[in-house]
Amino acid sequence: MKIFLIVLIFLIFLSVEGVYIESWVPAYGITKSETRLNTQYGNYTMDQGLTHLSLQFWIPDGSGGLDWTHQFESGKNGDDSSKVFVDWANGKNVKVMLCVFNLNKDGSWDWELAKSGFETYRSTFINSLVDEVERLDLDGVDIDFETTESSKSEDRDSFVEFLKDLGEALRAKGKDLFVNTFAYIWNAPNQDWWELMFEHVTGINSMGYDEIGRNGDTWSAYSFSKDAAGTNSTQLMLGMPGWVSTWKGDVTIDQLKWFEENKEVGISIWDAQILDSSWQTEQVWELIASLKPDATPTPTPSSNQDTNGAHMNFTFSFTFCLLIFIALLSF
Ligand SMILES: *[C@@H]1O[C@H](CO)[C@@H](O)[C@H](O)[C@H]1NC(C)=O
Ligand SMILES: *[C@@H]1O[C@H](CO)[C@@H](O)[C@H](O)[C@H]1NC(C)=O
Repeated sequence: MKIFLIVLIFLIFLSVEGVYIESWVPAYGITKSETRLNTQYGNYTMDQGLTHLSLQFWIPDGSGGLDWTHQFESGKNGDDSSKVFVDWANGKNVKVMLCVFNLNKDGSWDWELAKSGFETYRSTFINSLVDEVERLDLDGVDIDFETTESSKSEDRDSFVEFLKDLGEALRAKGKDLFVNTFAYIWNAPNQDWWELMFEHVTGINSMGYDEIGRNGDTWSAYSFSKDAAGTNSTQLMLGMPGWVSTWKGDVTIDQLKWFEENKEVGISIWDAQILDSSWQTEQVWELIASLKPDATPTPTPSSNQDTNGAHMNFTFSFTFCLLIFIALLSF
């Protein structure tokens, strides 16, 4: 009986874990995101499902500092818009993130601009990010540096070094670190980088969106990504496309049901405008809300030894009830 009990408790801790559920506010979609975030879908609102809301407003300035993207919707600016979403999140158990991306003012994804931040001016850039998070009372940083040049995999180690240093600086202040990657082996950063990144970040978003799904083939199946993350899958978020209703052969709600069956993988929805009406339903937000942990996991990644602790709040009440039940049974 005792062994059975111990095994059972162990299994519960392994099987029920919190995941992250992220969405973004693009600088060109501030008004629409704000509307959606304040809309009631039946008895649900988006904040009941989201753990993180990431503001994609910042770019590196090329010399270790930050600049605003050129993409702001007319009449909007970074300071005021950040405050709008920080105020929105107040008391809602949603963390608001600074998302820095490398789309330059000419409108192209500029890896050299990214590299000025993660390599050339690394420590200055890290200080800039941490200072900006504190200045605007944000909850962490979301790194969205992208290139379609696979050859940039040569920069992997340098990028990971950057995440390590940034992760340490943010954790010291109780802040989270997310990073975005491509879904498989192409472009950079990509799935091949995950294994080196998990220990330094809070979560990894895989930007598969409409190219991956529950019934995708080989690399485009959700289960393939889950397997690639192995025991770190609770740190992974699989990208879902908020702008369509059917992709890879399934409708939005059926794609979401995969996450109900695979509670050890998180979700990221591009973007908070949820432009397609299939996302603007009670059924969708009820399901997503059921995946959100009661308490957002702490920013401690698994390597920093607190995996069980991070999910303790979530599992505690369930485990406690079960323990009493088993105790009663064993008498
Ligand atoms: C909302 O919840 C209430 C009670 O919890 C229920 O009576 C009502 O039918 C729900 N509304 C919808 C649209 O499901
Ligand atoms: C999971 O993360 C640890 C470090 O936190 C790493 O050593 C391990 O290789 C990772 N596993 C996978 C499959 O990425």
